[in-house]
Amino acid sequence: MAGCFACELCRTRRNTVFGVGPRTARWMLVGEAPGEQEDERGEPFVGPAGRLLDQMLAAIGVDRPAEAFIANVLKCRPPGNRNPQPGEVARCEPYLLRQVELIRPALIVALGRFAAQSLLDTDASIASLRGRVHRFRAGEVEVPLVVTYHPAYLLRTLPDKAKSWADLRLARRTFDAMG
Ligand code: URA
Repeated sequence: MAGCFACELCRTRRNTVFGVGPRTARWMLVGEAPGEQEDERGEPFVGPAGRLLDQMLAAIGVDRPAEAFIANVLKCRPPGNRNPQPGEVARCEPYLLRQVELIRPALIVALGRFAAQSLLDTDASIASLRGRVHRFRAGEVEVPLVVTYHPAYLLRTLPDKAKSWADLRLARRTFDAMG
């Protein structure tokens, strides 16, 4: 992937950000795209949103390095952190689908609109997608998926933290019910 030139983002990235976590992870968290610090380090969620993500995972008893694989819809930083464009999402999608296929997590948490819309192939809003368990399907793989707000959004919009907490508890219950 480090040699990917499928879209224009390859011209401005410093590093590709593949994803991080154990190959055997049972939790998979999918964000939007690398930000400045992620682009610099080549690792997802290492900036302020990442610190909130760590706390959110710890709050539901998930040990991030041991149990979670973290990836993004886009593997390269959009300049100035602008929104991913549809063509970029489409070009990058095969990487994410392959990651899900290889890791075969027990549960996926989609963080924010771009992850939710891309994984569920919909243009519905986060507000309408959160609060229930979806199914992610690709080829032979079928994985329960819970949608919640993006941690960077939660840093700006404190009132929605309570909703996100409810989503994460739903994710935890769904995971636990699978045994
Ligand atoms: N926001 C994301 O969506 N992903 C990251 O890796 C960092 C911030």
